[in-house]
Amino acid sequence: MQSNEIRSAFIDFFEKRGHQFIPSSPVVPIADKTLLFANAGMNQFKPIFLGDETPDHPRAVNTQKCIRVSGKHNDLDVVGMDGFHHTFFEMLGNWSFGDYYKPDAIAWAWELLTEVWGLDKDRLWATVYTDDDEAFKLWPDVTDISKDRVLKFGEKYNFWEMGETGPCGPCSEIHYYIGDDPKNQSAKGVNSSDDYWELWNLVFIQSNRNADGKLKDLSQKHVDTGAGLERIVSVMQNKSSNYETDLFSPIIQSIEKITGINAKDNPSPFHVISDHIRMLCFSIADGALPSNGGRGYVLRRLLRRASRFGRMLDQREPFMFELVDTVGQIMGDVFPEVVEKSAHIKKVVQAEESMFNDTLDRGLVHFDKSLDASSGKTIPGKDAFKLYDTYGFPLDLTMLMARERGYSVDEKGFETEMAAQKKRAKASGKFTADSGSLDWVNLSKGKDSKFLGYETMESESKVRRFASSKDSIHLVLDKTPFYAESGGQIGDKGTINGKGITLKVENTVKDGKSHIHICSGKWSESALKSVLSSSVDGPRRQNIRKNHTATHLLNSALKVVLGEHCQQAGSLVHPDYLRFD
Ligand code: SER
Repeated sequence: MQSNEIRSAFIDFFEKRGHQFIPSSPVVPIADKTLLFANAGMNQFKPIFLGDETPDHPRAVNTQKCIRVSGKHNDLDVVGMDGFHHTFFEMLGNWSFGDYYKPDAIAWAWELLTEVWGLDKDRLWATVYTDDDEAFKLWPDVTDISKDRVLKFGEKYNFWEMGETGPCGPCSEIHYYIGDDPKNQSAKGVNSSDDYWELWNLVFIQSNRNADGKLKDLSQKHVDTGAGLERIVSVMQNKSSNYETDLFSPIIQSIEKITGINAKDNPSPFHVISDHIRMLCFSIADGALPSNGGRGYVLRRLLRRASRFGRMLDQREPFMFELVDTVGQIMGDVFPEVVEKSAHIKKVVQAEESMFNDTLDRGLVHFDKSLDASSGKTIPGKDAFKLYDTYGFPLDLTMLMARERGYSVDEKGFETEMAAQKKRAKASGKFTADSGSLDWVNLSKGKDSKFLGYETMESESKVRRFASSKDSIHLVLDKTPFYAESGGQIGDKGTINGKGITLKVENTVKDGKSHIHICSGKWSESALKSVLSSSVDGPRRQNIRKNHTATHLLNSALKVVLGEHCQQAGSLVHPDYLRFD
């Protein structure tokens, strides 16, 4: 059976049993701040499990795009080391929202695996949570599994939680022995040997983990199941690794074509690259972009890892963007976004590859030098930091490369360097405000920062409060024509003068709703009590305005020329230029 047929068979099976098909949610969560990426099929149903939403239908089935590279569920370090863990994968699932419970969930999973898909019962194992006697008894009652193939495990394996908080419950997993000789199986191998693959997890959601760590019973009991499509396809297609299935082999063939190297000679780079390009395609299609922080940095880290594996295949120019169409050919029928947005995905991937290519070779030289210079088998934090800061090597890439050579990295030393650099950056930001660390003196009462700057460039103002530091004085006024930096638009400059006061406004920034004027020049506390004349540098503001308008024009033009999929991720509006992300 082809992967597309296997996926459809799952959906058909549950639709015939009264389940409604629900499309996958985007892999970039829209509303859930607890997640960087969708990490399980149940994410989009969380409000239903918690009782905050009522479902349209009590049973659902779907295939969910999942990414597990951060937080509680993180498989990144093993990707490429084995044939069955991925950064991006598809999770098939069937759900009961306060409807059926353990008996049906267990019986249907078994029926589909053994009768519809015809998997060998003598290779399947079931596990249940140590306290769940009900599920332990049900397995041999509602299926024809042999009793000695039902095992109990503790919290680590059989109590499923989505994250630090959220819906959770005891679970029952189904494992498959993929070894050559079924006679070599034993209960000891389950959850310990890579010859036993977890194919399916039936979670009996009955509690919510609160932020204080305590479990609270939910008002209803639910079923949340997840079956790894890639592993099921692998088992069904009689392969010993997911990379040999029709979900991956076309990507691997494309890499072989581009590089002229046979994957059998050195499989690991082929595996990592084919895994990472799927993750990049789907996350970018759903709106994520590589960047220096948060979710975007996960994309950047993955792309840089893949680029470095590309170097192992002698790729010196961007090449991964050429794999985007292959991913579309494999999965575009089910997830059309990866085809519809392919032009955008290619551009983003190529631009990132190109950027890292510039420093990758020099970084590799530095890496080799740091191995030679390190005493013992630990790369000093200073070197790992230089690789990060100067050559753009994410720490986990340096750690991976170190592991390959039998070294480790002084992570603590890396963090110390990072903290020192942050401190330096802060010290150099003389005219940026860190208002929390300043001692403010109140001079007058009332509301502050009434913004007049759309109507006028000048005003008479009273000082509400001020704070001084070594190089500057910070002023908050009752009303002001100065625009404070926000939304990518830079703050105004100008002057504030009065009797005994001659100040240059070097920058204007926001602190909540207050506009903070960061000034240098002559002042005294008593002189600040009189009325002052504020005046914005008009020609400079006019240039900022023009660039602001140009940003909107550019956004609109990009949508017309490249398509509606273009998304503005940020911008910087400056008097001399604009930057559009
Ligand atoms: N939520 C469970 C898992 O991710 C089952 O879908 O394993």
